[in-house]
Amino acid sequence: MSADFSPSCVLVTGGAGFIGSNFVHTVLAEQADLTVINLDNLTYAGNLSNLASLKGDRRHVFVRGDVADADLVASLLTEHRPQALVHFAAESHVDRSIHGPDDFLRTNVQGTFNLLECARAHAQQLAPGGFRYLQVSTDEVYGSLEPDAPPFTEQHRYEPNSPYSATKAAADHLARAWHHTYGLPVLTTNCSNNYGPYHFPEKLIPLVIHRALLGQALPIYGDGQQVRDWLYVQDHCRAVWRVLQAGVPGETYNIGGWNEKTNLDVVRTLCAALDEMSPRADGQSYAQQITFVADRPGHDRRYAIDARKIERELGWRPQETFESGIRKTVRWFLDHPDWVRDVTSGAYRQWVSQQYGAESV
Ligand code: NAD
Ligand code: TYD
Repeated sequence: MSADFSPSCVLVTGGAGFIGSNFVHTVLAEQADLTVINLDNLTYAGNLSNLASLKGDRRHVFVRGDVADADLVASLLTEHRPQALVHFAAESHVDRSIHGPDDFLRTNVQGTFNLLECARAHAQQLAPGGFRYLQVSTDEVYGSLEPDAPPFTEQHRYEPNSPYSATKAAADHLARAWHHTYGLPVLTTNCSNNYGPYHFPEKLIPLVIHRALLGQALPIYGDGQQVRDWLYVQDHCRAVWRVLQAGVPGETYNIGGWNEKTNLDVVRTLCAALDEMSPRADGQSYAQQITFVADRPGHDRRYAIDARKIERELGWRPQETFESGIRKTVRWFLDHPDWVRDVTSGAYRQWVSQQYGAESV
């Protein structure tokens, strides 16, 4: 078996967001000789406070900028000569993509195109096999599963249904084509729903924790019977690193936690954890705050990942169960009220008012 690919410098995009910042923390903690160049333009979803504990660490270089800026990306590649580019940056929220898809086209499609072009020119300057590009994608590109259908394998057809998943699918197709046509060493990962520290409270799990503690309604779209397959974020980060090290260029790897849950079950589990770890003053359960609201247009019914390929070929498997991951997540949010306060000011309140009604802010 050949030795693992082991870069000393990696350009990470979107490393101030939820998964990207967890990835930066995880790899810097585990790879002593690694330098990370972190390119992020700090949209509403990117927060430098996610990276505060890295202040003064010379192995982390933060650059504020746009992945669609060709001059900037080319100059970063020339200056730092990374051996890998791990592309997390994206507009990532389905509900926002329904209200305004333009930014999704720009960042997810145009931005990925730009990175691929810059990476192609850069790889030509390095020895063969000296560079890898990793495209971080989602299970949502596969579309919606029937209740009894087997989970998505890597062979599943792309059938994106939301503006978000359509732009991620377009980006994945570009990455595939850059491998097939130009020989760029591209690896693609398609992961299920993540949760954990630094999760922006517009997504279901952090939104529910945040609103529960404020005594607000916990909005469940439609009948709450939609199914998602949940993975603790650090498990995802380790899987991405494993694919970068040992994946075969041109291949796709599905990443998931074998944790299919209905939304209603997820919210009830969160309420039970909060009841135990931070009980309501009146002694009642947080579950009393659950409220059913209008469904998301075009809401995908079920996602589920078959993660056997990455386990079989690369030896990765999740370390957290859903129960242990949820408890760690609730604990993290209870311990970081300042982080929550910082990220839920200004633009966040505007979004909540638009999505859930002015009275819910
Ligand atoms: P996020 O929205 O929390 O973070 C995205 C980050 O990208 C932010 O820091 C933002 O500032 C940055 N960004 C956005 N546009 C940019 C631009 N034009 N230039 C530079 N930076 C820009 O997203 P996330 O949940 O951390 O997701 C990261 C990646 O993982 C995305 O590609 C997403 O599709 C994928 N993914 C997410 C999940 C999930 O459950 N969250 C699951 C599977 C795959
Ligand atoms: P979300 O966290 O937005 O992730 P995704 O849409 O990418 O799967 O939503 C997870 C599920 O929770 C999804 O089925 C929509 C549902 N949901 C609600 O029921 N209420 C909410 O307020 C939010 C944000 C999501």
